[in-house]
Amino acid sequence: MRVEVLNGVNLDVLGRRDPKLYGGLGLHELETRIYDWAIELDVRVRCRQTNSEGEYVNWLHETLDAVDGLILNPAAWTHYSYAIRDAVELQTAPVVEVHLSNVDQREEWRRFSVIADLAAHRVIGKGPDGYREALEFLARKAS
Ligand code: DQA
Repeated sequence: MRVEVLNGVNLDVLGRRDPKLYGGLGLHELETRIYDWAIELDVRVRCRQTNSEGEYVNWLHETLDAVDGLILNPAAWTHYSYAIRDAVELQTAPVVEVHLSNVDQREEWRRFSVIADLAAHRVIGKGPDGYREALEFLARKAS
């Protein structure tokens, strides 16, 4: 089973962002945890992060017919990028939307997600462990 994890804008500096909201891990540490969980769950995972919306869209295109599941944290793009929504719409494999922080209990503008209705599952406000829940969901769905 192949799963792609795509992290979006500003998540490269995760370790510098408010630890009360984001859990205090750096991106590299987060990805290391994800790779460890993937081994436990017997899932092949690749993690990628970009600050370029066009690159994120290109990566979404690359996943078409190539993965069994997708874990997306488009970060701030979640709240306004219809380009990303259009690309996610093409995906036939299950998509899990993950946010480290509880976007429903922050500023009003963070409550809306352009991909919420396309996601098979959403994990919000569980910090880094949210990615584990997403992997478990996809592994369970595929079994
Ligand atoms: C985020 C939440 C977004 O609102 C924010 O812009 C991010 C990260 C999260 O993981 O909690 O950059 O997606």
